[in-house]
Parts: sequence; C-alpha cells; structure tokens
Amino acid sequence: MSVGIMNPPTDSLAGKVALITGAGSGLGEATARLLAACGARVAALDRDKETVQRVVADIVAAGGTALTVVADVSAPDQLAAGLEQIKAIWGRLDIVVANAGINGVWAPVDEITPDEWDRTMNVNLKGTFLTVRASTPLLKESGGGSVILMSSLMGTRMFSTSSASSYATSKAGMVAFGRMIALELARHKIRVNTICPGAFATNIVKSTTFRNTRDLHLPVLFPEGKVPLTGGPNGSPIQVARVVWFLASDLSDFVTGTEVYVDGGQSLLAG
Ligand SMILES: NC(=O)c1ccc[n+]([C@@H]2O[C@H](COP(=O)([O-])OP(=O)(O)OC[C@H]3O[C@@H](n4cnc5c(N)ncnc54)[C@H](O)[C@@H]3O)[C@@H](O)[C@H]2O)c1
Repeated sequence: MSVGIMNPPTDSLAGKVALITGAGSGLGEATARLLAACGARVAALDRDKETVQRVVADIVAAGGTALTVVADVSAPDQLAAGLEQIKAIWGRLDIVVANAGINGVWAPVDEITPDEWDRTMNVNLKGTFLTVRASTPLLKESGGGSVILMSSLMGTRMFSTSSASSYATSKAGMVAFGRMIALELARHKIRVNTICPGAFATNIVKSTTFRNTRDLHLPVLFPEGKVPLTGGPNGSPIQVARVVWFLASDLSDFVTGTEVYVDGGQSLLAG
C-alpha cells in the first residue's frame, strides 16, 4: 500500500482494529486511509453509505483491510448493530475515533429553534457519548485501547464565531466528556484524548445552515493571515490524521485525558 514519506510506518498499527465514525469524508476519511495504511483493520462508519463504501473500496484496492458500517451516530440501535458487525468479523476493538459531526444551524442565538439546537447536540455531543458507550464493552474485552474524540477550536479556545453557539457548545462538551471518561476508563487501560482541529478544507460547510449571520461574526483579522505556521493557508486533513495515528499507536501509551490542538497556532491568536 502506498505511503508517503511523511506517513508513519506501514506496520505500526498491525493487529489493531479501529472504528472511525464519519469516515466517508474529510478528517475521518483521511484518518481511515492513514490508519489502514499503517496496518489497522478499519471499520469505516458513516451514515452516508455511498461515500463510505467508496473509501472502503479504495482502502481494499490499495491492499488494506476495511469494513463498511452504515450507521447514524445519534441512533443507539444502529451503533449497537455496527459494533456487533465488528465483533462478529474481527472479534476485537482497539481504537475508536469519534469523529462524525455537523456544523448545524449557525444563527443568532434567539433565532435558533430548540429542534435545531437538539440536532447539533444529538449528532456531535450525544453521538460521541453513544459511540463511546457502544464501543467500551468491546474495548474492555480486548484488554484496553485508545479513544480519540474530534472536538474543535470553537468552544475551547476560540469564541469569535458568534452564530455557532450550538456547535461550539457541543464541542466544548466533548472536552469535558473526554477528560471524565479518561479517568473512569484508565483502570481498563483505555486511553481517551481529544483533538481540537483548526480549519481544514472538507465537506463540513455542506452540513451548515447559515441564517442572518452577516452582521454577527466579529472581525478577528490578522495581518499575515489566520494561521501563524503557514502565514495564511489552512491545514490539510492528513495533518489531523497523523495526530490521530500517534494517539492511536502505542507510542502515546502514557498520554490520556488531554487535548491536542492541531491548528498551526491559529487558536493562540484567536483566544
Ligand atoms: N473541517 C474542519 O475545519 C474542522 C475543524 C474543527 C473540527 N472539525 C470536526 O471534525 C469532524 C469531521 O468533520 P469534517 O470537516 O471532516 O466534515 P465532513 O462533513 O467532511 O465529514 C463528516 C462526515 O461525518 C458524517 N456524518 C455526519 N453526521 C453523521 C451521523 N449522524 N452519523 C454518522 N455519520 C455522520 C458525514 O456523512 C461525513 O461523511 C467533525 O466532528 C467536525 O466538527 C472539523
């Protein structure tokens, strides 16, 4: 399987089984491809069957091992069925990347409906809980593992995107959840860490409804662009995937309960 010079060794996750939610696109897709290239057997979960099947077909064509799991992370029954599928086929689970998420409705706080608020929370925050809840028994049975949650700068270090209060709140909740369960699950040798990505070109804008946001966004501008490390341009999804790889691998075996910012320094300016 072709791996670039910047990628980790191809056998570094050999023997491990990884579940990645939201694996049909963006950061989840890059992560699925990278972990498979490193030897993990990848259960690629997404609610969009077509996109995730394409990713799985590519991984298999490149010599990797991957399984399509079609499920909505906000639906406990669908997640349970997905975990049963993994257990029946591979009998174990070592890595969980709770990555599926949506931007939801971005609007003035008094114009967000309760149903719109709930939908963002249900996918991003409750979906993360449900993913961990469904996976934990198999991780325990496997003798431990690594859980990686995909939060954001928004709600953790950056608060200037005023219309995104539901999204940011869901992402802040993921940080607290990650720290809580890191301690709870440590006795089972399950590590839990949270990645806070900056801005990456993915399909997430398609999951966003913007409504009356024009006058809300605060003009937080920097002379040389918004990413100090690049002088402007955003990151590429593989740069998040490599951090997932590190947290998934045994090289990070003493790292748990922490957040890792992958943003080229952007949040240091925005905070
Ligand atoms: N792209 C960024 O700049 C950025 C920045 C910070 C955080 N994030 C976070 O990274 C994660 C991935 O985002 P992305 O940018 O790759 O987005 P994306 O839209 O490109 O991919 C998200 C994937 O998740 C799937 N998905 C959405 N809701 C789902 C559900 N209920 N059940 C199952 N699958 C579902 C989608 O079908 C899609 O394939 C999200 O949690 C997002 O909040 C992204």
